[in-house]
Amino acid sequence: MPKTISAAHEPAVGERQDSGDLHPVLPSMLLPDRCGDFDLFLEQGDSMVLYAARGELFTPAHRERLAERGVERLYVRSSDKEEFERFVQDHLGDLLADESIAVEERSSVWFDVTSSLAREAFDRNLPKSLTNVRFSRIKRILRDSLPFFARPEALRHLSSFVAEGGEYYHHGIGVMVLVAGIMNTVVTDDIDFMVGVCSGAILHDVGKLGLPEAVFEKHPDDLTSEELEILHSHPVMGVSRCAAVQLPQEALHCILFHHELENGSGFPSQAPGEVIPLHAKVVGMCDEYDNLTRPKPWREAFTPFEALARIKEKRDRYDPDLLKRLILVLSRAEIM
Ligand SMILES: [Fe+2]
Ligand SMILES: [Fe+2]
Repeated sequence: MPKTISAAHEPAVGERQDSGDLHPVLPSMLLPDRCGDFDLFLEQGDSMVLYAARGELFTPAHRERLAERGVERLYVRSSDKEEFERFVQDHLGDLLADESIAVEERSSVWFDVTSSLAREAFDRNLPKSLTNVRFSRIKRILRDSLPFFARPEALRHLSSFVAEGGEYYHHGIGVMVLVAGIMNTVVTDDIDFMVGVCSGAILHDVGKLGLPEAVFEKHPDDLTSEELEILHSHPVMGVSRCAAVQLPQEALHCILFHHELENGSGFPSQAPGEVIPLHAKVVGMCDEYDNLTRPKPWREAFTPFEALARIKEKRDRYDPDLLKRLILVLSRAEIM
């Protein structure tokens, strides 16, 4: 039986801890009536005190008390960080469904959890950054997140979190959030399919990892023919990079076809619109939107309104029905 933290267990009592060894976490990551295998610390003045020992039950009263005191961060030992992240991953579905937590706060937790998984999958320093184990965790997070993605206000808050950051995994998450918003208007009660598409959206540029970064930092008009060839190879490189991972077919479609265009002018195969899978078209369109709304070495970020205007200027590249859905989703979420 887990112990309940006693009401008297206020932060004045506790083991003092060297703050250098601690990692900050959001109190909302701790679901009531759950206990984790990690100690929790609270900042008090210049020191850290033990707030809840491992195995103690966190109750709604604790969460309320922390909120009343304006506590925005608790801390876990760095050595417990992995255990803590696993705890949050395991309970993410319940946390996202918890209406007592503000949507903005839930969006923040989601972004934190998803970022740490996606960061690993895009880690250049790991010989095998994307493994079946990592991919299974990403799929599980996405499965638990789908009901949350269906809410326009969640999309609005998620968009504000994912808008920052210039790494490939930031872009992958940004594209995925918008893809989920659009796919929710198109389909479907096929959860496996949705998870496959969303995971493909996160990973769509994974093929860039093995290629020289300088190519992706130049304005496309300034690339030499050799550099263009490298740029155009990243969808195929992405599929081969994932060869050892059991990706569903729809995820592979997203990686391979995300630069194909409705008018047949895309790459790598210049496939016409009628043969490009619909979900890959959605990823391609959201890819363009996300790229435009992020700063590049050669230009500032465009606002959502400006990005959409630029996409409309080249409307023959996009499926007209999907373009309407993009506009609908952005306006429903009050992003533009
Ligand atoms: Fe790409
Ligand atoms: Fe991309």
